Amino acid sequence: MITVEHLTRSYGGFTAVDDVSFACRPGRVTGFLGPNGAGKTTTMRIIVGLTPATSGQALVGGHRYVDIPNPGRHVGVLLDAGAQHGGRTGREILTIGAQTMGLPSSRVEEILATVGLNEDESRRRLKHYSLGMK
Ligand SMILES: Nc1ncnc2c1ncn2[C@@H]1O[C@H](COP(=O)(O)OP(=O)(O)OP(=O)(O)O)[C@@H](O)[C@H]1O
Ligand SMILES: [Mg+2]
Repeated sequence: MITVEHLTRSYGGFTAVDDVSFACRPGRVTGFLGPNGAGKTTTMRIIVGLTPATSGQALVGGHRYVDIPNPGRHVGVLLDAGAQHGGRTGREILTIGAQTMGLPSSRVEEILATVGLNEDESRRRLKHYSLGMK
């Protein structure tokens, strides 16, 4: 469960996120829609602790993201598919993630199989991936 309560984020005199409240219930696919510049990315950055809120709060499983030990094991997030280094292979990116989170290397194989990247594709560099492969 993701709970956002009265979230507001201001930059100087400009309000990027204005008193936003919602809940994403477990087992549901939740769409987060709005015009360009509506504040969607800022809201999601606040949920995962990349941007501080001006007021209000965001909880994941009842906890603030910053209070979750080893949060990568509980929260998967990809705000920008182009944010990964283009020179790394898919396999390398997953391996770095697994090592950071203290997961066995077998998880890399499991996730490659889950997303449908074969052996050859997993060893290609991200800059040569299609959007969906990223
Ligand atoms: N660091 C920042 N400093 C100043 N203004 C910012 C900053 N980050 C975002 N904004 C402003 O906050 C508003 C919301 O931006 P945000 O990126 O959250 O929108 P969005 O809903 O994700 O838009 P899009 O659909 O285009 O991705 C925009 O007007 C943006 O210019
Ligand atoms: Mg955005």
